[in-house]
Amino acid sequence: MRPCGAVGLGLLRLGLLLAAVCGAAAELHTLRYIHTAMTDPGPGQPWYVDVGYVDGELFVHYNSTARRYVPRTEWMAAKADQQYWDGQTQIGQRNERSVKVSLDTLQERYNQTGGSHTVQWMFGCDILEDGTIRGYRQVAYDGKDFIAFDKDMKTFTAAVPEAVPTKRKWEEGGVAEGWKSYLEETCVEWLRRYVEYGKAELGRRERPEVRVWGKEADGILTLSCRAHGFYPRPIVVSWLKDGAVRGQDAQSGGIMPNGDGTYHTWVTIDAQPGDGDKYQCRVEHASLPQPGLYSWEPPQPNLVPIVAGVAVAIVAIAIVVGVGFIIYRRHAGKKGKGYNIAPDREGGSSSSSTGSNPSI
Ligand SMILES: *[C@@H]1O[C@H](CO)[C@@H](O)[C@H](O)[C@H]1NC(C)=O
Ligand SMILES: *[C@@H]1O[C@H](CO)[C@@H](O)[C@H](O)[C@H]1NC(C)=O
Repeated sequence: MRPCGAVGLGLLRLGLLLAAVCGAAAELHTLRYIHTAMTDPGPGQPWYVDVGYVDGELFVHYNSTARRYVPRTEWMAAKADQQYWDGQTQIGQRNERSVKVSLDTLQERYNQTGGSHTVQWMFGCDILEDGTIRGYRQVAYDGKDFIAFDKDMKTFTAAVPEAVPTKRKWEEGGVAEGWKSYLEETCVEWLRRYVEYGKAELGRRERPEVRVWGKEADGILTLSCRAHGFYPRPIVVSWLKDGAVRGQDAQSGGIMPNGDGTYHTWVTIDAQPGDGDKYQCRVEHASLPQPGLYSWEPPQPNLVPIVAGVAVAIVAIAIVVGVGFIIYRRHAGKKGKGYNIAPDREGGSSSSSTGSNPSI
């Protein structure tokens, strides 16, 4: 399972970028923008895409083909005015021009003369339940962390040597102050406004449907806990053994969107066969007044195969007895009259309705 509080900028993994696995209890609202610029976007695809998420919901979109900011939710389309879209469009076009320069600079800095390269910007802010604010601004190149901004220290952290010139440039250019105030003020004000715009939808609560099951293979019992159909996105699913959280042994598939605006997730843990009853899956979610606890109920010995087996045996015996009886009768008949052959042949070809009339 992912360590708590990690906000890495992994390879195009929005799931990770928007991760709220551990922060669920504390995160109230989040605003994230992800800008992706590619040298090699693929046929017909825009080379630059800018998407915004409020509370994990995609709500605005810009790309280098349309070159306009557009709403991606009904509440944004209804609440934001033309002036907003025109202003955002200008910012989008400016970002598009500057990221083009960044792509060229990065290829030069890495001595790259071609190939497929991607720059990603991720930034945004969170309002936590206790009212504190978190802000991020970071860049990844070809899926790896490149540089990150620390708004509290007002410093930049170069993740690779190639980022040192960028760090120097930004420090000399004095961008830190502006970024800090964007993250702590502008971003948070807009986040509050967006949450207000979308409160009917963003404020809804949908309970997870939770299922637990176990599978034994190679002497390991793998227990799986799956929560399905919940909203909002933040959720904490943990495995407890004898009542204690077993974070380090658990594996999560992350929190994935369903097509219908809800989410699903799963967490597995490996246990000793026979220990199944010591484990419980705990689910914490905004829709639940208190954490839900779920246990695995190993299936009862299944009677169906046994019943089916007995039925098959009975039918088999019946057939054997039936055939034996027919053979007996035929022999008896031949001995007696000798004119029973024609009906039998006919019966064999028409496969009569009784179903047990094998040719002899
Ligand atoms: C680009 O944006 C336009 C709307 O502005 C949208 O219709 C189109 O689907 C987008 N293209 C991609 C590949 O997302
Ligand atoms: C790029 O090339 C220059 C000159 O050939 C060299 O000094 C530099 O170390 C190279 N940088 C990388 C990242 O390979």
